[in-house]
Amino acid sequence: MKIAGKKVLLTGANGGIGQAILRRLHGEGALIAATDLNVDYLDAKVRFNGNLLDKNFCDELPKRVYEALGGLDILINNAGVIRRGKITESSDEDLEVSMKVNVEAPFRLCRASIPLLNQGGGGAIVNIASCWGIHPGPSHPIYVMTKAAIASLTQCLGRDHASENIRVNAVCPNEVNTPMIKSGFSIRGLDPNKGIEELNKTVPLGRIAEPEDIADVVAFLLSDAARYMCGSLVEVNGGKAVS
Ligand SMILES: NC(=O)c1ccc[n+]([C@@H]2O[C@H](COP(=O)([O-])OP(=O)(O)OC[C@H]3O[C@@H](n4cnc5c(N)ncnc54)[C@H](O)[C@@H]3O)[C@@H](O)[C@H]2O)c1
Repeated sequence: MKIAGKKVLLTGANGGIGQAILRRLHGEGALIAATDLNVDYLDAKVRFNGNLLDKNFCDELPKRVYEALGGLDILINNAGVIRRGKITESSDEDLEVSMKVNVEAPFRLCRASIPLLNQGGGGAIVNIASCWGIHPGPSHPIYVMTKAAIASLTQCLGRDHASENIRVNAVCPNEVNTPMIKSGFSIRGLDPNKGIEELNKTVPLGRIAEPEDIADVVAFLLSDAARYMCGSLVEVNGGKAVS
């Protein structure tokens, strides 16, 4: 699949990885519908402000994008939240928000998008999961559980919809230099930039990922070069295993 001219729905478009995906695909000539809590200032073909906690917004968004762009070829479930702490430190709200944004919203968006992708003869879905969804990291059971769920959904849909010419794959990053990772340092009272420097030393390649490192893999999975990949969980980790 050539990305130029493809009609794309991207969630979390205002986040660190989302903005990099937007720039990358825009640069290749894709027509992008960007959604996030606030996308007013993003350079996208169409923009939808909305909250993924709202199930009606999720259920209706793919149709709205289809109508606005004149079709839908690609869905990228990138939005996510991270709630930190062991299970005994976790609130009902942590659980509810994480499950809704990281699992329920992608479920609803996939369910509403697949019939629309079919109308164009197929397409592709990329979910942003996490290395932690494959190999659980410490002290984040809610986040790990939600990322395992989206990884599993990717494998299920990758199998179930391959015969419809819809390829569903996931990118599973380890640490990426975005506001999400910096929030962990801020909570512990550490300087985010110093925290990144320390983290860089723990990665065999010498640095944590930049958002562009992830956006490039998303673009690959959407392209014809990945035409035989269905239900894959692609770890992008600079050689750093989860420890
Ligand atoms: N940064 C990392 O180290 C890392 C590692 C592995 C996986 N990931 C995953 O990558 C994806 C992107 O994360 P990021 O690092 O760019 O984080 P980020 O915080 O910069 O971006 C996340 C985006 O999701 C949006 N979002 C959150 N809740 C929402 C809601 N209720 N409705 C609409 N939008 C909402 C936010 O507004 C934000 O723009 C996430 O799914 C995350 O879990 C990140």
